[in-house]
Amino acid sequence: MTMLRIDREGAGLKTIDLAAAKAALGELKNGTGKGNDFIGWVKLPKDYDKEEFARVKAAGKRVREKDEAFVIIGIGGSYLGARAAIELLKSPRHNEVKDGPALYFIGNGISGSDIAQVLELVKGKELYINVISKSGTTLEPALAFRIFKDYMEKTYGKEGCRERILCTTDKARGALKGLADKEGYECFVIPDDIGGRYSVLTPVGLLPMAAAGIDIDRVMKAADENMDRFLKEDDENPALIYAASRYALYSAGKKVEIFSYPGESMRFMAEWWKQLYGESEGKEHKGLFPASCEITADLQSLGQYIQDGERMLMETIVRFDTEGVEVKVPFEADNADGLNYVAGKDYDEIFMAAAKGIKKAHIDGGVPCLEIVADRPCEESFAEMVVFYETACAVSGYMLGVNPFNQPGVEEYKKNMFALLGKK
Ligand code: PA5
Repeated sequence: MTMLRIDREGAGLKTIDLAAAKAALGELKNGTGKGNDFIGWVKLPKDYDKEEFARVKAAGKRVREKDEAFVIIGIGGSYLGARAAIELLKSPRHNEVKDGPALYFIGNGISGSDIAQVLELVKGKELYINVISKSGTTLEPALAFRIFKDYMEKTYGKEGCRERILCTTDKARGALKGLADKEGYECFVIPDDIGGRYSVLTPVGLLPMAAAGIDIDRVMKAADENMDRFLKEDDENPALIYAASRYALYSAGKKVEIFSYPGESMRFMAEWWKQLYGESEGKEHKGLFPASCEITADLQSLGQYIQDGERMLMETIVRFDTEGVEVKVPFEADNADGLNYVAGKDYDEIFMAAAKGIKKAHIDGGVPCLEIVADRPCEESFAEMVVFYETACAVSGYMLGVNPFNQPGVEEYKKNMFALLGKK
Protein backbone atom coordinates (compact mmCIF):
# COMPACT_ATOMS: atom_id res chain seq x y z
CA MET A 1 0.00 0.00 0.00
CA THR A 2 1.33 3.47 -0.87
CA MET A 3 1.35 6.03 1.94
CA LEU A 4 0.47 9.63 1.20
CA ARG A 5 1.58 11.96 3.98
CA ILE A 6 1.15 15.62 4.88
CA ASP A 7 3.59 18.04 6.47
CA ARG A 8 1.99 21.13 7.99
CA GLU A 9 5.06 22.61 9.65
CA GLY A 10 5.50 25.24 6.94
CA ALA A 11 1.97 26.52 7.49
CA GLY A 12 3.09 28.25 10.69
CA LEU A 13 -0.07 27.27 12.55
CA LYS A 14 0.24 26.73 16.29
CA THR A 15 -2.99 24.74 16.41
CA ILE A 16 -5.59 23.43 14.01
CA ASP A 17 -9.14 22.50 14.91
CA LEU A 18 -9.05 18.74 14.44
CA ALA A 19 -12.15 18.36 16.60
CA ALA A 20 -14.16 20.43 14.10
CA ALA A 21 -12.69 18.41 11.21
CA LYS A 22 -13.66 15.18 12.96
CA ALA A 23 -17.19 16.50 13.52
CA ALA A 24 -17.41 17.36 9.80
CA LEU A 25 -16.14 13.89 8.90
CA GLY A 26 -18.78 12.43 11.22
CA GLU A 27 -21.49 14.33 9.30
CA LEU A 28 -20.16 12.90 6.05
CA LYS A 29 -20.01 9.34 7.37
CA ASN A 30 -23.41 9.47 9.05
CA GLY A 31 -25.03 11.20 6.09
CA THR A 32 -26.30 14.06 8.25
CA GLY A 33 -24.56 16.93 6.41
CA LYS A 34 -25.76 19.18 3.60
CA GLY A 35 -26.15 17.54 0.20
CA ASN A 36 -26.24 14.07 1.76
CA ASP A 37 -27.98 12.62 -1.30
CA PHE A 38 -24.65 13.01 -3.17
CA ILE A 39 -22.28 11.06 -0.96
CA GLY A 40 -22.34 7.77 -2.87
CA TRP A 41 -18.61 8.25 -3.67
CA VAL A 42 -17.77 7.49 0.00
CA LYS A 43 -18.91 3.86 -0.21
CA LEU A 44 -18.17 3.48 -3.94
CA PRO A 45 -14.70 1.86 -3.63
CA LYS A 46 -16.25 -1.00 -1.62
CA ASP A 47 -19.64 -1.13 -3.13
CA TYR A 48 -19.52 -0.73 -6.91
CA ASP A 49 -21.38 -2.69 -9.56
CA LYS A 50 -19.01 -5.60 -10.31
CA GLU A 51 -20.94 -6.73 -13.39
CA GLU A 52 -20.69 -3.27 -14.88
CA PHE A 53 -17.01 -3.06 -13.90
CA ALA A 54 -16.39 -6.22 -15.96
CA ARG A 55 -18.20 -4.58 -18.92
CA VAL A 56 -16.01 -1.49 -18.52
CA LYS A 57 -12.90 -3.68 -18.71
CA ALA A 58 -14.25 -5.56 -21.74
CA ALA A 59 -15.10 -2.32 -23.56
CA GLY A 60 -11.66 -0.89 -22.73
CA LYS A 61 -10.05 -4.05 -24.12
CA ARG A 62 -12.10 -3.81 -27.34
CA VAL A 63 -11.02 -0.22 -27.86
CA ARG A 64 -7.37 -1.13 -27.19
CA GLU A 65 -7.47 -4.04 -29.59
CA LYS A 66 -8.57 -1.82 -32.49
CA ASP A 67 -5.61 0.28 -31.47
CA GLU A 68 -6.23 3.38 -33.59
CA ALA A 69 -8.30 6.24 -32.17
CA PHE A 70 -10.57 6.85 -29.20
CA VAL A 71 -12.50 10.10 -28.80
CA ILE A 72 -13.65 10.93 -25.28
CA ILE A 73 -16.40 13.54 -25.12
CA GLY A 74 -17.19 15.24 -21.80
CA ILE A 75 -16.62 18.37 -19.72
CA GLY A 76 -15.88 19.25 -16.06
CA GLY A 77 -16.42 16.29 -13.78
CA SER A 78 -17.18 14.17 -16.82
CA TYR A 79 -13.71 14.81 -18.23
CA LEU A 80 -10.97 16.04 -15.91
CA GLY A 81 -10.49 12.93 -13.74
CA ALA A 82 -9.96 10.59 -16.68
CA ARG A 83 -7.50 12.96 -18.30
CA ALA A 84 -5.67 13.45 -14.98
CA ALA A 85 -5.23 9.68 -14.62
CA ILE A 86 -4.08 9.14 -18.19
CA GLU A 87 -1.57 12.01 -18.20
CA LEU A 88 -0.16 10.99 -14.82
CA LEU A 89 0.00 7.22 -15.31
CA LYS A 90 0.66 7.10 -19.05
CA SER A 91 1.94 10.41 -20.40
CA PRO A 92 0.87 13.89 -21.47
CA ARG A 93 2.50 12.75 -24.75
CA HIS A 94 0.44 9.55 -24.79
CA ASN A 95 -0.45 9.82 -28.48
CA GLU A 96 3.17 10.01 -29.55
CA VAL A 97 4.18 6.98 -27.51
CA LYS A 98 2.82 3.89 -29.25
CA ASP A 99 0.70 2.40 -26.50
CA GLY A 100 -2.87 1.61 -27.58
CA PRO A 101 -5.18 3.95 -29.47
CA ALA A 102 -4.56 7.68 -29.81
CA LEU A 103 -6.82 9.44 -27.28
CA TYR A 104 -8.61 12.70 -28.03
CA PHE A 105 -10.57 14.66 -25.41
CA ILE A 106 -13.20 16.91 -26.96
CA GLY A 107 -16.48 18.59 -26.02
CA ASN A 108 -14.81 20.39 -23.12
CA GLY A 109 -15.24 23.85 -24.62
CA ILE A 110 -16.83 25.63 -27.57
CA SER A 111 -14.19 25.76 -30.27
CA GLY A 112 -14.98 24.87 -33.86
CA SER A 113 -11.29 24.65 -34.64
CA ASP A 114 -10.72 22.02 -31.92
CA ILE A 115 -13.56 19.91 -33.31
CA ALA A 116 -12.33 20.29 -36.88
CA GLN A 117 -8.79 19.31 -35.90
CA VAL A 118 -9.85 16.15 -34.07
CA LEU A 119 -12.18 15.16 -36.92
CA GLU A 120 -9.28 15.53 -39.32
CA LEU A 121 -6.93 13.53 -37.06
CA VAL A 122 -9.29 10.55 -36.73
CA LYS A 123 -10.36 10.41 -40.38
CA GLY A 124 -9.59 7.01 -41.89
CA LYS A 125 -8.73 5.49 -38.49
CA GLU A 126 -10.62 2.75 -36.65
CA LEU A 127 -12.60 4.94 -34.27
CA TYR A 128 -14.40 4.36 -30.98
CA ILE A 129 -16.22 7.08 -29.02
CA ASN A 130 -17.10 7.43 -25.37
CA VAL A 131 -19.60 10.21 -24.70
CA ILE A 132 -19.87 11.08 -21.01
CA SER A 133 -22.59 13.29 -19.55
CA LYS A 134 -24.57 12.71 -16.39
CA SER A 135 -27.32 15.17 -17.24
CA GLY A 136 -27.11 14.32 -20.92
CA THR A 137 -27.95 17.93 -21.72
CA THR A 138 -24.69 19.84 -21.22
CA LEU A 139 -24.24 21.94 -24.36
CA GLU A 140 -20.51 21.45 -25.03
CA PRO A 141 -20.38 17.62 -25.05
CA ALA A 142 -23.86 17.35 -26.63
CA LEU A 143 -22.73 19.52 -29.56
CA ALA A 144 -19.50 17.57 -30.01
CA PHE A 145 -21.39 14.30 -29.86
CA ARG A 146 -23.87 15.42 -32.53
CA ILE A 147 -20.93 16.14 -34.87
CA PHE A 148 -19.02 12.91 -34.13
CA LYS A 149 -22.19 10.78 -34.26
CA ASP A 150 -22.87 12.15 -37.72
CA TYR A 151 -19.29 11.27 -38.78
CA MET A 152 -19.57 7.78 -37.26
CA GLU A 153 -22.91 7.03 -38.91
CA LYS A 154 -21.54 8.10 -42.30
CA THR A 155 -18.43 5.98 -41.76
CA TYR A 156 -19.75 2.84 -40.06
CA GLY A 157 -23.53 2.97 -40.53
CA LYS A 158 -26.01 2.76 -37.67
CA GLU A 159 -25.19 -0.89 -37.06
CA GLY A 160 -21.43 -0.26 -36.80
CA CYS A 161 -22.08 2.61 -34.38
CA ARG A 162 -23.73 0.22 -31.93
CA GLU A 163 -20.37 -1.47 -31.41
CA ARG A 164 -18.33 1.74 -31.45
CA ILE A 165 -20.29 4.34 -29.49
CA LEU A 166 -20.14 3.92 -25.71
CA CYS A 167 -22.30 6.15 -23.51
CA THR A 168 -21.68 6.98 -19.86
CA THR A 169 -24.71 8.69 -18.38
CA ASP A 170 -27.58 8.55 -15.91
CA LYS A 171 -29.22 5.16 -15.49
CA ALA A 172 -32.66 6.37 -16.60
CA ARG A 173 -32.91 10.12 -17.24
CA GLY A 174 -31.69 12.69 -19.73
CA ALA A 175 -31.46 13.21 -23.47
CA LEU A 176 -28.31 11.10 -23.86
CA LYS A 177 -29.88 8.09 -22.15
CA GLY A 178 -32.97 8.40 -24.37
CA LEU A 179 -30.83 8.66 -27.50
CA ALA A 180 -28.58 5.76 -26.47
CA ASP A 181 -31.57 3.49 -25.84
CA LYS A 182 -33.12 4.46 -29.15
CA GLU A 183 -29.92 3.76 -31.10
CA GLY A 184 -28.93 0.68 -29.10
CA TYR A 185 -25.59 1.99 -27.78
CA GLU A 186 -23.94 0.28 -24.81
CA CYS A 187 -24.45 2.36 -21.65
CA PHE A 188 -22.51 2.73 -18.42
CA VAL A 189 -24.08 4.32 -15.37
CA ILE A 190 -23.13 7.38 -13.33
CA PRO A 191 -24.90 6.60 -10.04
CA ASP A 192 -27.62 9.01 -8.89
CA ASP A 193 -25.83 9.74 -5.62
CA ILE A 194 -22.47 10.74 -7.17
CA GLY A 195 -21.97 14.23 -8.64
CA GLY A 196 -19.69 14.92 -11.62
CA ARG A 197 -16.60 16.09 -9.76
CA TYR A 198 -16.68 13.08 -7.42
CA SER A 199 -17.22 10.57 -10.27
CA VAL A 200 -13.72 9.67 -11.45
CA LEU A 201 -13.91 6.18 -9.92
CA THR A 202 -17.20 5.41 -11.72
CA PRO A 203 -17.26 4.45 -15.44
CA VAL A 204 -16.78 8.20 -16.11
CA GLY A 205 -13.08 7.79 -15.36
CA LEU A 206 -12.67 4.02 -15.44
CA LEU A 207 -13.61 3.41 -19.07
CA PRO A 208 -11.14 5.93 -20.56
CA MET A 209 -8.52 4.66 -18.09
CA ALA A 210 -9.08 1.04 -19.15
CA ALA A 211 -8.90 2.02 -22.82
CA ALA A 212 -5.58 3.74 -22.09
CA GLY A 213 -4.19 0.56 -20.53
CA ILE A 214 -4.40 1.60 -16.87
CA ASP A 215 -5.01 -1.28 -14.47
CA ILE A 216 -8.39 -0.33 -13.01
CA ASP A 217 -8.44 -3.35 -10.66
CA ARG A 218 -5.42 -1.85 -8.92
CA VAL A 219 -7.07 1.58 -8.90
CA MET A 220 -10.23 0.32 -7.18
CA LYS A 221 -8.36 -1.86 -4.69
CA ALA A 222 -6.19 1.07 -3.61
CA ALA A 223 -9.21 3.39 -3.46
CA ASP A 224 -10.90 0.97 -1.09
CA GLU A 225 -7.89 0.55 1.21
CA ASN A 226 -7.22 4.27 1.36
CA MET A 227 -10.80 5.39 1.78
CA ASP A 228 -10.90 3.38 5.01
CA ARG A 229 -7.80 5.22 6.14
CA PHE A 230 -9.12 8.70 5.33
CA LEU A 231 -12.46 8.05 7.01
CA LYS A 232 -10.85 7.47 10.42
CA GLU A 233 -11.56 10.05 13.14
CA ASP A 234 -7.93 10.02 14.05
CA ASP A 235 -5.44 12.87 14.73
CA GLU A 236 -2.99 11.41 12.19
CA ASN A 237 -5.54 11.25 9.33
CA PRO A 238 -3.92 13.40 6.59
CA ALA A 239 -7.31 14.30 5.10
CA LEU A 240 -8.40 15.83 8.41
CA ILE A 241 -5.07 17.61 8.86
CA TYR A 242 -5.32 19.06 5.33
CA ALA A 243 -8.94 20.23 5.80
CA ALA A 244 -8.29 21.72 9.26
CA SER A 245 -5.06 23.45 8.15
CA ARG A 246 -6.53 25.09 5.07
CA TYR A 247 -9.57 26.14 7.15
CA ALA A 248 -7.28 27.73 9.75
CA LEU A 249 -5.37 29.58 7.03
CA TYR A 250 -8.62 30.76 5.42
CA SER A 251 -9.86 31.96 8.82
CA ALA A 252 -6.58 33.85 9.22
CA GLY A 253 -7.27 35.80 6.01
CA LYS A 254 -5.80 33.73 3.20
CA LYS A 255 -7.97 33.87 0.08
CA VAL A 256 -6.16 31.77 -2.51
CA GLU A 257 -4.73 28.26 -2.29
CA ILE A 258 -2.03 27.47 -4.83
CA PHE A 259 -1.68 23.79 -5.70
CA SER A 260 1.98 23.59 -6.71
CA TYR A 261 2.73 20.39 -8.57
CA PRO A 262 5.76 18.75 -10.10
CA GLY A 263 5.68 18.90 -13.88
CA GLU A 264 3.47 18.33 -16.86
CA SER A 265 2.18 14.88 -16.00
CA MET A 266 0.36 16.33 -12.95
CA ARG A 267 -1.17 19.27 -14.86
CA PHE A 268 -4.57 17.67 -15.19
CA MET A 269 -4.52 16.40 -11.63
CA ALA A 270 -4.25 20.09 -10.71
CA GLU A 271 -7.15 20.92 -13.05
CA TRP A 272 -9.20 18.14 -11.45
CA TRP A 273 -8.32 19.46 -7.96
CA LYS A 274 -9.27 23.02 -8.96
CA GLN A 275 -12.71 21.89 -10.09
CA LEU A 276 -13.22 19.73 -7.01
CA TYR A 277 -12.39 22.50 -4.54
CA GLY A 278 -13.68 25.50 -6.50
CA GLU A 279 -17.08 24.02 -7.28
CA SER A 280 -17.47 22.42 -3.86
CA GLU A 281 -16.44 25.33 -1.63
CA GLY A 282 -16.97 28.56 -3.53
CA LYS A 283 -20.44 29.43 -2.22
CA GLU A 284 -22.21 32.07 -0.14
CA HIS A 285 -19.25 34.39 -0.84
CA LYS A 286 -16.92 32.02 0.99
CA GLY A 287 -14.02 29.68 0.22
CA LEU A 288 -10.38 29.68 -0.85
CA PHE A 289 -9.93 30.33 -4.58
CA PRO A 290 -8.11 27.30 -6.04
CA ALA A 291 -5.16 28.19 -8.26
CA SER A 292 -2.26 26.11 -9.51
CA CYS A 293 1.43 26.49 -10.24
CA GLU A 294 3.73 24.09 -12.06
CA ILE A 295 7.12 23.60 -10.44
CA THR A 296 9.29 24.98 -11.81
CA ALA A 297 7.78 26.19 -15.12
CA ASP A 298 5.33 28.65 -13.55
CA LEU A 299 7.86 29.92 -11.05
CA GLN A 300 9.51 31.71 -13.97
CA SER A 301 6.24 33.63 -14.38
CA LEU A 302 3.92 33.44 -11.35
CA GLY A 303 6.89 33.03 -9.02
CA GLN A 304 7.34 36.78 -8.70
CA TYR A 305 3.77 37.29 -7.46
CA ILE A 306 3.92 34.33 -5.11
CA GLN A 307 7.14 35.61 -3.56
CA ASP A 308 6.32 39.28 -3.45
CA GLY A 309 2.73 40.12 -4.41
CA GLU A 310 -0.30 40.61 -2.19
CA ARG A 311 -0.14 38.38 0.91
CA MET A 312 -3.45 36.55 0.56
CA LEU A 313 -1.91 33.29 -0.62
CA MET A 314 -1.36 29.91 0.93
CA GLU A 315 0.33 27.10 -0.93
CA THR A 316 0.02 23.34 -1.01
CA ILE A 317 3.12 21.78 -2.52
CA VAL A 318 2.29 18.37 -3.94
CA ARG A 319 5.08 16.01 -4.88
CA PHE A 320 6.21 12.40 -5.13
CA ASP A 321 9.10 10.77 -3.27
CA THR A 322 10.31 9.66 -6.67
CA GLU A 323 9.10 9.86 -10.25
CA GLY A 324 10.23 6.25 -10.54
CA VAL A 325 12.53 6.96 -13.49
CA GLU A 326 16.28 7.42 -13.19
CA VAL A 327 17.77 10.20 -15.32
CA LYS A 328 21.30 11.15 -14.27
CA VAL A 329 23.20 14.26 -15.35
CA PRO A 330 26.34 13.23 -17.26
CA PHE A 331 29.83 14.51 -16.35
CA GLU A 332 31.57 16.66 -18.98
CA ALA A 333 35.32 17.05 -18.93
CA ASP A 334 35.41 20.66 -20.15
CA ASN A 335 32.36 21.73 -18.09
CA ALA A 336 31.59 24.42 -20.67
CA ASP A 337 28.05 24.88 -19.33
CA GLY A 338 29.30 24.98 -15.73
CA LEU A 339 26.95 22.18 -14.69
CA ASN A 340 29.41 19.70 -13.24
CA TYR A 341 28.21 20.66 -9.76
CA VAL A 342 25.16 18.50 -10.50
CA ALA A 343 26.98 15.78 -12.50
CA GLY A 344 26.05 12.32 -11.27
CA LYS A 345 22.85 13.59 -9.60
CA ASP A 346 19.47 12.18 -10.56
CA TYR A 347 16.54 14.41 -11.59
CA ASP A 348 14.63 13.31 -8.45
CA GLU A 349 17.47 14.71 -6.33
CA ILE A 350 17.58 17.99 -8.25
CA PHE A 351 13.80 18.35 -8.00
CA MET A 352 13.92 17.74 -4.25
CA ALA A 353 16.47 20.52 -3.82
CA ALA A 354 14.30 22.82 -5.95
CA ALA A 355 11.15 21.96 -3.98
CA LYS A 356 12.90 22.55 -0.63
CA GLY A 357 14.33 25.85 -1.84
CA ILE A 358 10.96 26.99 -3.18
CA LYS A 359 9.15 26.08 0.02
CA LYS A 360 11.63 27.95 2.20
CA ALA A 361 11.56 31.02 -0.05
CA HIS A 362 7.75 31.13 -0.06
CA ILE A 363 7.46 30.65 3.70
CA ASP A 364 10.07 33.39 4.22
CA GLY A 365 8.05 35.59 1.85
CA GLY A 366 4.88 35.17 3.93
CA VAL A 367 3.15 32.33 2.07
CA PRO A 368 2.28 29.49 4.47
CA CYS A 369 2.99 26.10 2.90
CA LEU A 370 1.51 22.68 3.36
CA GLU A 371 3.26 19.76 1.69
CA ILE A 372 1.56 16.59 0.47
CA VAL A 373 3.82 13.73 -0.56
CA ALA A 374 2.87 10.53 -2.37
CA ASP A 375 5.19 7.59 -3.11
CA ARG A 376 5.50 7.64 -6.90
CA PRO A 377 3.12 7.92 -9.85
CA CYS A 378 1.24 4.62 -10.08
CA GLU A 379 -2.31 3.27 -10.00
CA GLU A 380 -2.21 3.03 -6.21
CA SER A 381 -1.03 6.58 -5.56
CA PHE A 382 -3.51 7.97 -8.10
CA ALA A 383 -6.41 6.27 -6.30
CA GLU A 384 -5.00 7.36 -2.96
CA MET A 385 -4.83 11.00 -4.06
CA VAL A 386 -8.38 10.86 -5.46
CA VAL A 387 -9.98 9.61 -2.26
CA PHE A 388 -7.73 11.85 -0.13
CA TYR A 389 -8.69 15.04 -1.96
CA GLU A 390 -12.36 14.06 -2.20
CA THR A 391 -12.67 13.32 1.51
CA ALA A 392 -10.71 16.40 2.56
CA CYS A 393 -12.86 18.52 0.22
CA ALA A 394 -16.14 17.31 1.71
CA VAL A 395 -14.78 17.87 5.24
CA SER A 396 -13.54 21.34 4.23
CA GLY A 397 -16.96 22.24 2.78
CA TYR A 398 -18.72 21.16 5.96
CA MET A 399 -16.24 23.09 8.12
CA LEU A 400 -17.03 26.16 6.02
CA GLY A 401 -20.77 25.60 6.44
CA VAL A 402 -21.56 25.13 2.73
CA ASN A 403 -23.02 22.25 0.73
CA PRO A 404 -19.96 20.74 -0.99
CA PHE A 405 -22.04 18.75 -3.47
CA ASN A 406 -24.11 21.29 -5.39
CA GLN A 407 -23.11 23.98 -7.90
CA PRO A 408 -25.90 26.57 -8.10
CA GLY A 409 -23.52 29.24 -9.43
CA VAL A 410 -22.69 27.28 -12.58
CA GLU A 411 -26.27 27.62 -13.80
CA GLU A 412 -26.06 31.42 -14.15
CA TYR A 413 -23.87 31.57 -17.28
CA LYS A 414 -25.84 28.74 -18.84
CA LYS A 415 -29.14 30.65 -18.46
CA ASN A 416 -27.66 33.66 -20.28
CA MET A 417 -26.02 31.55 -22.99
CA PHE A 418 -29.17 29.55 -23.70
CA ALA A 419 -31.28 32.74 -23.86
CA LEU A 420 -28.83 34.29 -26.35
CA LEU A 421 -28.85 31.11 -28.46
CA GLY A 422 -32.66 31.05 -28.52
CA LYS A 423 -33.21 27.84 -26.52
CA LYS A 424 -36.88 27.45 -25.63
O1 PA5 B 1 -19.13 18.51 -11.10
C1 PA5 B 1 -20.07 18.73 -11.84
O2 PA5 B 1 -21.22 18.43 -11.53
C2 PA5 B 1 -19.88 19.36 -13.20
O3 PA5 B 1 -18.57 19.69 -13.44
C3 PA5 B 1 -20.32 18.42 -14.28
O4 PA5 B 1 -19.57 17.25 -14.21
C4 PA5 B 1 -20.17 19.03 -15.67
O5 PA5 B 1 -20.90 20.21 -15.72
C5 PA5 B 1 -20.65 18.08 -16.74
O6 PA5 B 1 -21.98 17.72 -16.50
P1 PA5 B 1 -22.64 16.51 -17.25
O7 PA5 B 1 -21.92 15.28 -16.88
O8 PA5 B 1 -24.06 16.52 -16.76
O9 PA5 B 1 -22.55 16.78 -18.73
